[in-house]
Formats: sequence, C-alpha cells, structure tokens
Amino acid sequence: MAKNQPRTPSRPQTYYIEADVAEGLAAVSTAEIRFRFQKFVNFYSTIKPGKEDATDDAGGVVLFSYDNALSELLKLQTVQSLYLLQRYPIARPKALLGDEHLRNVRAQIATVRALYPDGVFKTLRLNAAGSDSSVMMRLKTELAESEGLAISEDEADLLIRVRPTPSIHEDDIGWDVLVRLSPRPLATRAWRVCNFEGALNGAVAHALVRLTHPNPRDVYLNIACGSGTLMIERQLAGPARQIIGVDIDPAALACAQQNVIAAGAKQHVTLHRGDGRALPLPDHSVNAITADLPFGHLVGSHAENVRLYPLILQEAARVARPHAFFGIITHEVRLMEQLLAAEDCAWTVEKTLKVELGGLHPRMYVLQKNP
Ligand SMILES: C[S@@+](CC[C@H](N)C(=O)[O-])C[C@H]1O[C@@H](n2cnc3c(N)ncnc32)[C@H](O)[C@@H]1O
Repeated sequence: MAKNQPRTPSRPQTYYIEADVAEGLAAVSTAEIRFRFQKFVNFYSTIKPGKEDATDDAGGVVLFSYDNALSELLKLQTVQSLYLLQRYPIARPKALLGDEHLRNVRAQIATVRALYPDGVFKTLRLNAAGSDSSVMMRLKTELAESEGLAISEDEADLLIRVRPTPSIHEDDIGWDVLVRLSPRPLATRAWRVCNFEGALNGAVAHALVRLTHPNPRDVYLNIACGSGTLMIERQLAGPARQIIGVDIDPAALACAQQNVIAAGAKQHVTLHRGDGRALPLPDHSVNAITADLPFGHLVGSHAENVRLYPLILQEAARVARPHAFFGIITHEVRLMEQLLAAEDCAWTVEKTLKVELGGLHPRMYVLQKNP
C-alpha cells in the first residue's frame, strides 16, 4: 500500500447491549439512546434480537445492537445499568466451562475492563439463578482466578449475569452472559456526596427532566428540591438560563448545596429556602418545573399531602408561563388524579407514566400550563 494512502477503516464491531431501566421508562431511555447514537443503534425485542422493534415498555429492559465506541455509551443518563450481552447456543450452562466458551466469556470481560484504567476492578460477582450450584461456583472461581479478582457476594466492580436466553419460541435454547459495562450502576451518580433520605434515583430524575423538554432558554424551577437531584440532572441535560431550587427544609438545602458543588453546577443553580405554597418568584416567570413531591411514606403524610398538593399545583401555575411544562413524580396517585380532573385545574395532562421505584409504583405526570 502506498505510504500516504488512507487505510480502509476496519468494520466496527457490533455489540449487543442490554440496558436496565426503571420499569415504565423504557420509552424515555430508548429516546435518549436514539437521540445520542441514532446512526449506531438498532433496537430489538427484549425477547429475541432481530424479530421486532421493542420501543414499547418491556419490563424495564432496552435491548439494542451498537457499533461505535463502547465508552460513549457510558454517557447515557436515564439508564440504571448497561450490560454487554453475548448469547451462547448451549443447552446447559456447564458448557460455558468448555475451552471455547470460556475464552469468549473472558474476551467479553476484557472488552469491558479495557474501558477503564488498571486497578479499577477489584471484586467480581456472579449473578445467576442457581448461583450456588456446582457449575456456577466453578465458573465464578475460574473467572475470579483468571481475572485476578476477589469474589464478592454483594455489590462488586465486575458484575456478571448468567441466565437462560429469554425465549418466545420453543427452539430458542441458549444461555446469555451479561457483563456490566461499569463498576457501579450508571444511575449511581459521582456527584452525590450528600445522601438524603427520600432522594430520587439519578436516572429516574433525569428521565423526568427530559420529559419537560429541556431547552437552553429554560428558566427551570424544582419545587421541593430536597438534596438537589432534579436540578443537577437538569444541568446535566444541557444549558438553561436559570436553575432554581426551593425547599422548606434547611437541612435538605445544605445537602443540595454540597451535591451542586460536587456536580460543578454551583454557578448555574440558585437555592431558596421557601414554601412551595408561596414561592419566592414573580408571576409567569418560569417555563419548566419539576417536583418530586413527598410521597407520604418516608417524607410527609397522606393527610399533609391532601392540603399540600392542591396549593403546590396552584402556586406552580402562578409562576409558570403559558405552555410551561411541569413534571411531577408522586405516589399519591388518587389524589393527583382528582386534582388534575378538577374543572378549575390550570394544567393539562400531557403524559402519565407508571414507574417502578424501589418496590413502589409512583406515577410521573407531565403537565402543560393552560394558556
Ligand atoms: C421526596 S423529597 C425530595 C427529594 C429530592 N428529589 C431529592 O432527590 O433529594 C420531598 C421534599 O419536599 C420538601 N417539602 C415538603 N413540604 C414542602 C413545602 N411546603 N415547600 C417546599 N418543600 C417542601 C421536603 O423538605 C423534602 O425535601
């Protein structure tokens, strides 16, 4: 080949990726994946690759093929965890211990470990139905030894899942090996230096933010901001003119302050101590609002919520511009539905999503202010 002639780029490898998302948010995560990696992805049924498009909600999983740098995927903000998936056409997991398959599993692990500097992965966990069977014990021991990692039964840096291939046809036999792409779930945010009881999961918060259609002209308000999760996720979603948080509890605000600083968002965020029922803001001054309202379990009580919620909806309507979006997450489903159905409600429901969150099933409401 002549010296200066460009090389024909080798065909990029196709990876199969499974994204764990909070149940109910598969469509939001699919939209994020498509938005960031349109050219490089194909979505599949969660059941069988290549058969059908699965952009509907399918039990908290999004499956796609991807042919770009894997490290780019770590930018995804609405997913809980990402896994590199490989299907093995074997009848029993014992076959994974055979030379060829074991070599492939090791190659799968090497692909993930190559994304990080040496020393990041110290522990390994194998997650499988029957993980204490002799086959799984051998697999775990072999992999831990060859990788130089300590076996952990709890949270570990290298998480490997082994499961029978989910199938819709009787002849779909096989086993899947999934290797998590990051030492911690992606939803675990590095900026969270202050933990706050009742804080919202980072990826779920990001999904709620995206549902308010963020744009750089936003004056964004987070009512009952707690430790700052939604404000920080708003900042991570792209520039805004202003990001304002209001909470009644000084301890929550002190926690938010620490997290905002750790996120490097201090210059973008203004925190106010105030009551969501009497916001320290002028009429028609904001165009995107979010609120993770007290569910009435860990934070607040149902009786308090019956008084609080209508006043917050009213006050949010006062400060909102016409057509402003208001994203709410709450477990007070019946109460919210009653309030939103009222004739004098200033908000129109654009979307309702039922989400699974730590065993609870709160709803996300995306509202738009009536003109
Ligand atoms: C579920 S927590 C929010 C957690 C937050 N999303 C986070 O990730 O940390 C609810 C918050 O509502 C606040 N709150 C309760 N009543 C309020 C009111 N009347 N006005 C403003 N904030 C209020 C509480 O102090 C608490 O921080």
